[in-house]
Amino acid sequence: MTRRKAPDLRVRIGSLELANPVMPASGCFGPELGAIVDLNRLGAMVTKTVFAAPRSGNPAHRLGESYGGMLNSVGIPSDGAAGFVRRLLPEYREWRPPTIVSLGGLSEEEYFVAAEQLAGVEGIAAFEVNVSCPNLEAGGHELGAVPAAVERVIRGVVSRVGVPVIAKLTPNVTSIADIARAAEAGGASAVTAINAVLGLAVDARTRQAKIGTTTGGLTGPAIKPIALRCVWQAARAVQIPVIGVGGIATVDDVIEFLLAGATAVQVGTATFTHPDTMLRIIDGLSARLAAEGVASVAELTGALKVGPAHHDLGGVLDASAPETGSPVPRG
Ligand SMILES: Cc1cc2nc3c(=O)[nH]c(=O)nc-3n(C[C@H](O)[C@H](O)[C@H](O)COP(=O)(O)O)c2cc1C
Repeated sequence: MTRRKAPDLRVRIGSLELANPVMPASGCFGPELGAIVDLNRLGAMVTKTVFAAPRSGNPAHRLGESYGGMLNSVGIPSDGAAGFVRRLLPEYREWRPPTIVSLGGLSEEEYFVAAEQLAGVEGIAAFEVNVSCPNLEAGGHELGAVPAAVERVIRGVVSRVGVPVIAKLTPNVTSIADIARAAEAGGASAVTAINAVLGLAVDARTRQAKIGTTTGGLTGPAIKPIALRCVWQAARAVQIPVIGVGGIATVDDVIEFLLAGATAVQVGTATFTHPDTMLRIIDGLSARLAAEGVASVAELTGALKVGPAHHDLGGVLDASAPETGSPVPRG
């Protein structure tokens, strides 16, 4: 009996080859979880956003529950670039997957200062430029909504670091396709979509906004359809890979993002309840592809069927469906 070859989970982000397409979302998962999860099995590690100078976070409460997700306004406390290199980066270096450092700034200049401080530092495989945080008073969010500013920031960071640069996009814009195109024009190797969706959570009994900054970033399953839509629009707008993030907790979620156009995915909020979510997804994805006879995960990217809906045949391919090249059933 011939044994079927294990599906090829490798994906490429610019010059970076990842062993599989699954990595943590920035700010949701750190190397300290290596005590309970084998981080060597992840496609990559992604750090919390690092700023040039140390900064504190937002006032309490920083987290609030919401239907199908949660609202946060952490405000990105940071040790600053020097503190990151001294204290946190050595912990990342202990693990095999490439480390992608999330880079922040409250102005265009601040991104460049942080990039200069971190350029050439051993153990940084790529940067993910956070031009999308909804919880910062100045810069970030507004900057990420202006295509010309995104292009300038990405170009400036690309010119200062010798490794791939990924742009992390906000969904809180009119046209995410325009922002993705600007990032590509600036030299980004990929875009990540999406950061949190701007929201408000209210306690009806106390009449109080649930978090200290009143508005905050909604994450978790509630934002998945928004994230899928953004990935789909971004993937159609650019030639570079799209990394999908927003509400992913299961293998089905990952397949949905791949079909919508993602090359890789990130998992955030789901890891707070189950820190081993990513490992379960990697195992499940491999098993699912093998069962469906899909040789490589890359075959799924962008294979979404669009047009009139078809009956869900519960895992059996619909013979009347248009050809897409994807053997993965819907449902
Ligand atoms: C508590 C918390 C902190 C976060 N911190 C960051 C951050 O520092 N930088 C960043 O780019 N995104 C940050 N995010 C956004 C996530 O990386 C991700 O884009 C978002 O949570 C959507 O994915 P999810 O629904 O899987 O959580 C944070 C999200 C949460 C919930």
